[in-house]
Amino acid sequence: MINIGVLISGGGSNLQAVIDACEYGVLKGLARVVVVVSNKTDAFGLERAKMHDIPSKFIDPRGFADNASYCAKITEEMKKRNVELVCLAGFMRMVDPGLITAFRGKVINIHPALLPNYGGKGMYGHFVHEAVIKAGEKESGATVHWVNEVYDSGPVILQKKVPVMTDDTPAALAKRVLEVEHLIYPEAIRMLVDRGEIRR
Ligand code: GRF
Repeated sequence: MINIGVLISGGGSNLQAVIDACEYGVLKGLARVVVVVSNKTDAFGLERAKMHDIPSKFIDPRGFADNASYCAKITEEMKKRNVELVCLAGFMRMVDPGLITAFRGKVINIHPALLPNYGGKGMYGHFVHEAVIKAGEKESGATVHWVNEVYDSGPVILQKKVPVMTDDTPAALAKRVLEVEHLIYPEAIRMLVDRGEIRR
């Protein structure tokens, strides 16, 4: 069993997709979510974790001198639970290099666009979908990728495309992309497990 730790800031629908896959989907018997950490006290994802008896924690960034010490605290929580794969799922903070070093080759993220396009600083939430529509793209999609020290630039693990409709709104496109995210996040983890790419 691979122990997964998930970092969230909001609704946690991707967290839910991973939990469900562990309970009865493509990750059943292979992985389990052992801890969920949020930087926002009101993140609904924390409730989702509770509903599945998964230890969850709001850790307030304001209680720390800087991002490095904040991420060191998160690292400590993950290590305490023997986490072997850290999944960022709508975690709206830059992950400090210290955490990436502590979990080298074990941190992945999901992004609501076809990276390397529409990634980087400021490219999150509706900003991504607005930019995609404004550029007149015919397709967008979702990307699961390894996390390194530079925003949204780690190697791609899995991508899936969706069409962009001529009359799309950012909200409509976001919904279409999110559905695909829920499919590929568990699928990407499954691929890594099958290939033995998650080292203990
Ligand atoms: C998703 O669109 C994900 O790609 C991005 O943040 C959003 C999180 O949604 N990184 P949720 O909290 O998983 O519902």
